[in-house]
Amino acid sequence: MMRWFTQALPLCATTCSRSVLARALAAVHPAKTRVTDRSLQLILGADGAIGCSLMRHFRNAGCPVLGTTRRPDCLEDQMLYVDLADVTLDWDALEAVETAWLCASVTSIAECASRPDQTRAVNVDGVCQVAEKLSEVGAQIVFLSSSLVFDGRAPFYCPDSQVCPRTEYGRQKVEVEQRLGSMNPVVIRLTKVLGPQHPLLMGWQTSLQEGRVIRPYSDRVIAPLPLDWVVRALPQLADSPGIHHLSGDQDISWSLVGEALAEHLGADLSLVQPVAIGQPGGDLEPVRKYATLDMSATLNALDLTQPSLGDLFNNWGR
Ligand SMILES: NC(=O)c1ccc[n+]([C@@H]2O[C@H](COP(=O)([O-])OP(=O)(O)OC[C@H]3O[C@@H](n4cnc5c(N)ncnc54)[C@H](OP(=O)(O)O)[C@@H]3O)[C@@H](O)[C@H]2O)c1
Repeated sequence: MMRWFTQALPLCATTCSRSVLARALAAVHPAKTRVTDRSLQLILGADGAIGCSLMRHFRNAGCPVLGTTRRPDCLEDQMLYVDLADVTLDWDALEAVETAWLCASVTSIAECASRPDQTRAVNVDGVCQVAEKLSEVGAQIVFLSSSLVFDGRAPFYCPDSQVCPRTEYGRQKVEVEQRLGSMNPVVIRLTKVLGPQHPLLMGWQTSLQEGRVIRPYSDRVIAPLPLDWVVRALPQLADSPGIHHLSGDQDISWSLVGEALAEHLGADLSLVQPVAIGQPGGDLEPVRKYATLDMSATLNALDLTQPSLGDLFNNWGR
C-alpha cells in the first residue's frame, strides 16, 4: 500500500494523484512544480541507514526528493508510506521520478535465513514489483545489492565474476539482480557500510569512552566503506546502468576496526581485546575469508578515491 501523507499537505490517504504530486513537488522544490519535470529522487527505505543519509544528501543539494517508510510514526513531509510486504500502488502520478533508489530490504542475514519465505516476499517480490512499476513510467532503477552475492572464498571478485551466494540474504540479492535485468538498472554491490549511527560501533564508542573493554572478532573480515563516502559515490553512479562494486580497499578484521576506533577516540588501546569465535554452529552466516570486491572499473566513473581504514572515522565526532 502506498500513500501520500504530509503534514503540510493533508491528503487523501489512499491515492497518489497527479495534483498531489505537483503540490508535493512544489513543497520540496519551488522551481519544480510540473509533474512532467522528471527530476524527482525517490528513496525506498528512507529511514534506513543508507536511505536516510542519501535523502539528507539530496535535500542538502537542493534536489527534489521523496522517501518511503513503513513506520506510521515517521510519516512526515516528503515521506510516503510503502510496505514492501503489501504493495498496492497508484503509479500514474510518479512520472516525475527520475531515479528510484531501492534501499529498502530486510537486511538481517539471520532473519533471511530463519524466515526465507517472508523475507523473500519483501526483498525479492516486493522490491521487484515496485521496480517494475517505476521502470514502466520511465524511472531509472538503482538497486543496492551486496558483496554477499559472492561466497567470500576469494578476494576482489569483479562485477562480471560468477555469483555464488552462500546465504539466503545473498541468494535474494542475486534473484533481484536477475529479475531487474530487463530494466537496464544500476546495480551497486556494497561491502560493509559503517557510519556513526551503526549500532555495534555506537556501543563500542560508549564503552571505550567509559573505559570499558570491547571484544571485537579477530576472525571475521569486512572491507568497510564509510557511510558518508557511500552517499557521495551513489549519486555519481545514477546514470551508469550496469553492475558496480563499491568496496573498502582491503580485508580487515573487526578487531582492527575496534583498534582504529579506539585510536580515533584517543582511548586506551588495551581496552580492545579481540576474540576468535571460530565457525559458529549452523550455517546462518558462513565464515568468509575475504570481503573485498574489485571496484577498479567503478572507480573510473567516480570523482572519489577508494576508501581505506584510515578514512573510516574521518567525519565522526569524538
Ligand atoms: N549497510 C550495509 O553495510 C550494506 C551492505 C551491502 C548492501 N546493503 C544494502 O543496502 C540497502 C540499504 O541498507 P541499510 O544498511 O540502509 O539497511 P537498513 O538500515 O536495514 O534499512 C533497511 C530499510 O528497509 C526498510 N524495510 C524493511 N522491511 C521493509 C518492508 N517490508 N517494507 C518497506 N520497507 C522495509 C527498513 O524499514 P524499517 O527500519 O522500518 O524496518 C529500512 O528503512 C539494503 O538493500 C542492503 O541490503 C547494505
